[in-house]
Amino acid sequence: MTDLDWDVERSRARRNKRWSQYDRDVIDLTVAEMDLPVAAPILAAVQDDVRRQAFGYPLADELSDVPQAAGEWLAEEHGLTVAPDRVRLLPELMRGIIMSITHLTRADSPVVVPTPVYGRFFDAIRVAGREAVQVPMSMGERGYELDLDGIERALRAGAGSVLLCHPGNPTGRILDVGPLRALAALAARHGAKVISDEIHAPLRYQPGFIPYGALDANAITLISATKAWNFPGLRCGLIVFGDPADARVWAGLPRAAVGGMSPLGMTATVAAFREGRPWLREAVRFLDGNRKLVTDALADLDIGYVEPQASYLAWLDLRRFGLADPAAHLLRETGVATASGADHGSAGDGFVRLNFATPPDVLTDALDRIIARLL
Ligand SMILES: Cc1ncc(COP(=O)(O)O)c(C=O)c1O
Repeated sequence: MTDLDWDVERSRARRNKRWSQYDRDVIDLTVAEMDLPVAAPILAAVQDDVRRQAFGYPLADELSDVPQAAGEWLAEEHGLTVAPDRVRLLPELMRGIIMSITHLTRADSPVVVPTPVYGRFFDAIRVAGREAVQVPMSMGERGYELDLDGIERALRAGAGSVLLCHPGNPTGRILDVGPLRALAALAARHGAKVISDEIHAPLRYQPGFIPYGALDANAITLISATKAWNFPGLRCGLIVFGDPADARVWAGLPRAAVGGMSPLGMTATVAAFREGRPWLREAVRFLDGNRKLVTDALADLDIGYVEPQASYLAWLDLRRFGLADPAAHLLRETGVATASGADHGSAGDGFVRLNFATPPDVLTDALDRIIARLL
């Protein structure tokens, strides 16, 4: 039994971004971080680093245990065999996306982005000096689906890569093997690179997740323990290259481009992948309870909502209210802060994203406020 006992006051006492952006009477459900304690083995490992004052520059990737621990995780959880020399460390996944687009896709080629998607993808593409081609997903019976025809049109028109979020932020969608295979076929036909951000993958509510890299030997995959084990401030992520040529190009990039990991983040990542399963199981069970709270609260209302298959984000379709800015309206009328759907691509207009990884009483208060005053 793992102890997940926690409350918002303790989250406030962390004095991080979460719970610091609004007045105390606002329920802030914007920042994608959980109101949960860090897993005991991770805390113990980081405390040991602190005791030893391990605050120097980090070990070289290949001397650290991180690629090995990540490889073990991918093999055991995803059935994916990845040689440690195809796994490289990053301070944050966004850097991996920027550098992959810059150095590992066709020069100057636009980037296809299935939307709605994590808004910082657009920032990353902009920083890489590329154009983003938004291809909105369609809503099928099981949730959002890739628009493969739209993606093919964009690739035929010159796009050189596809930036995938799998499972989806903000949708919580786990894509099925069929569309993923079709995407891999499109990428092969058009010589395009698929970059798959799989940071949310450990937080799944169902079996059947297929890592994109299992279907495309040229793919670039981004993974991290920071999201699922809740230590995003510790700065450590991983990039996995299917193509050895990509790994070689990456190895030649300067430290200023791809360095900056924190040794504490590296320690926490190894502890998460090797010792973090019991905590993760408990956390997913806790989140699943909140997921049901959201689904039940919204069940009789006339709004579009598809229960997420992974992670802790609820993506609410408020288009029928005709609000210019639903997140600003909710904040003003209900005191609940949500992320604006419009930040997730044009397909997000009229939506809001709500983080439900908060104590059930706080979540219930937020849902009651929204339902009473808006719906
Ligand atoms: C899909 C996705 N990728 C990346 C990140 C951020 O990762 P990092 O801080 O490692 O850049 C987030 C954070 O919410 C995310 O949802």
